[in-house]
Amino acid sequence: MAVSADAVRAELEAVLEEVKAALAAADSPDAARAAAAVLLGKKGALAKVEPLLKEAPREERPKLGKALNDVRRSGEAALQSRIEALEAAARKASLAGPPHDFTLPGRGHRLGSLHPVRLVEQDILAALSSLGFEVADGPEVELEKYNFEMLGFPPDHPARDMQDSFFVAGEAAGEAAGEATGGVVLRTHTSPVQIREMLSHPPPVRISCPGVVYRRDDDVTHSPMFHQIEGLLVDEGVTLAHMKGVMTLFIRRVFGADARVRFRPSYFPFTEPSAEVDVGCTICGGTRVGCRVCKESGWLELGGCGMVHPVVFENVGYDPERWTGFAFGMGVDRFAMLRYGIADIRLLYENDVRLLRQL
Ligand code: DAH
Repeated sequence: MAVSADAVRAELEAVLEEVKAALAAADSPDAARAAAAVLLGKKGALAKVEPLLKEAPREERPKLGKALNDVRRSGEAALQSRIEALEAAARKASLAGPPHDFTLPGRGHRLGSLHPVRLVEQDILAALSSLGFEVADGPEVELEKYNFEMLGFPPDHPARDMQDSFFVAGEAAGEAAGEATGGVVLRTHTSPVQIREMLSHPPPVRISCPGVVYRRDDDVTHSPMFHQIEGLLVDEGVTLAHMKGVMTLFIRRVFGADARVRFRPSYFPFTEPSAEVDVGCTICGGTRVGCRVCKESGWLELGGCGMVHPVVFENVGYDPERWTGFAFGMGVDRFAMLRYGIADIRLLYENDVRLLRQL
């Protein structure tokens, strides 16, 4: 049965009018969407007009097809503007509505917290300061001479391999700072602060040096940037017994009065004799069985220490016949991981506030 083009046009117009009326009657964005779906959707009034197109005269069909699309587009545009109008009206109504309830409890502000590394650093420094150690500082971009040579590591000394270094291009950094020239490195340990301190102060010396150091290492227990605290005590008549006493005392102030402490012989070019210092495993409490943190050894390594080598005293112009001393260097990140049970060192540097919120 043939249908005239005008009849189809009339149907289309009727649908559009219906859409407009339904939208005007809708009193919420959801109601407007529902009404539009009934008319413009797949099984809606508009879809029902579509089959009529095939029965219209062939030459009119393209124009009618376009007219149908126009109706759909106009209907959708009308829906959009109705939604916007309803939303704007709702906003206006809510602002005009009852005033805010000032008796409701306020929303608290979250307080920040210190980073685990900073907390542990503060504890260690406090323990050392109670034993008379004053905080000293040095640069992170350091002369190779202070980082290595004057600490007893000549350029081709195998001990340099223990500290895979980042070198800074150009010797000019030292020159610009008015220092003698030579290689420049990101300091691989805080020990060069010992040299700077002794070069600029006469003995006796009692310092702690917290700071950041850099090495070419990167895995779950090594970060290319990490924290150390160095200690140096120089006086007359200092013995290994003083070193063991002071270190045991301050480690117990940090890990608890009944922490076990042990010293194992080791090697560093700037101390003789040298030792590594361990604390009894804080995770398994020394029971060892199945402990992954201490690898069932019952002990955790905290750092190195030793009696200052006479060559170091000579290098800084102290008389090695008169002055004696001990030094130590410890990894702060390691302390923090042990204390807070953090298994991957990289978590400390990812800036994920969920880590900090637990402290
Ligand atoms: N600087 C050493 C390192 O990073 C640690 C160290 C060992 C520091 C012995 C000292 C010390 O002061 O006496 O491996």
